Amino acid sequence: MFKKVDSEYFYRLLHPRPVVLVAVKAQDGRVNFMACSWVTPVSEDPPLIALALSRESYTRDIILEVKEFTVNIPSLQLLEEVWISGTTSGREVDKVAKTGVELGRAENVSAPVIQGSIGYLECKLKEYHEVGECTLIVGEVIGAYARENTFERGTWRLEKTSPLLHLGSVYFTTANRYTVKPASLKKKKKRS
Ligand SMILES: Cc1cc2nc3c(=O)[nH]c(=O)nc-3n(C[C@H](O)[C@H](O)[C@H](O)COP(=O)(O)O)c2cc1C
Repeated sequence: MFKKVDSEYFYRLLHPRPVVLVAVKAQDGRVNFMACSWVTPVSEDPPLIALALSRESYTRDIILEVKEFTVNIPSLQLLEEVWISGTTSGREVDKVAKTGVELGRAENVSAPVIQGSIGYLECKLKEYHEVGECTLIVGEVIGAYARENTFERGTWRLEKTSPLLHLGSVYFTTANRYTVKPASLKKKKKRS
C-alpha cells in the first residue's frame, strides 16, 4: 500500500540529494555563495550541469551578470556554512564575513573556491531557462577537482570523506560507507 504524499512535498521523494555551495564574484568584486540541492549533471559530452535557482536568489542574478560560477562540494564539516548560506541572502548579508569561510582562487573562472570543500567544479553559463519560480542554469564544466585521496577511479572514497546530503527542511545526512554492486555483475571467468 502506498500513502499519498502532500503535493507540497513531492520533490522530497527525490531527496536525499547532494547539496552544493554555488559561489560567485560580481562585477563589483562582491563574493557570494548559496546552498543548492537542486543540482544535477545533464550531459557528459559536452560536460554540462543544471541548477534550479529561485528567481529571488542574489547568486542567480550574479550568474546571469558575470556568466561564471563554482560549484563547491561540502562535507559534513561545512554543515553550518551550508545552513547559513541557505537561509540568508547576499542581498542583505556578507556571508563570507558571517561564516568566516576561507576562499581560494579558481584557475579558469573569476568565482572563488570554498577551501573547506572536498571538491569543486568551475563552470561557465551556457544557457538558462525560466522554469516555474526558478531559473534553470545550465553550466559548462571547464574544470573539476577533488581533494587528494578522497576520489579514486571516478568515485568518492566514502571511508575517507562524507559528502553532505540534504533530506529536506532542516534535516541532513551523509553517505554511508557501505557500498554495494549489483549481483548480476559477476566477475567474468578468465579464459585459460
Ligand atoms: C540545504 C539547502 C538547499 C537549498 N537548495 C536550493 C536550491 O536548490 N535552489 C534554490 O534556489 N535555493 C535553494 N536553497 C535556498 C537558498 O540557498 C536561499 O534562498 C539563499 O538565501 C539564497 O541566497 P542568495 O540570495 O545569496 O543567492 C537551499 C537552502 C538550503 C539550506
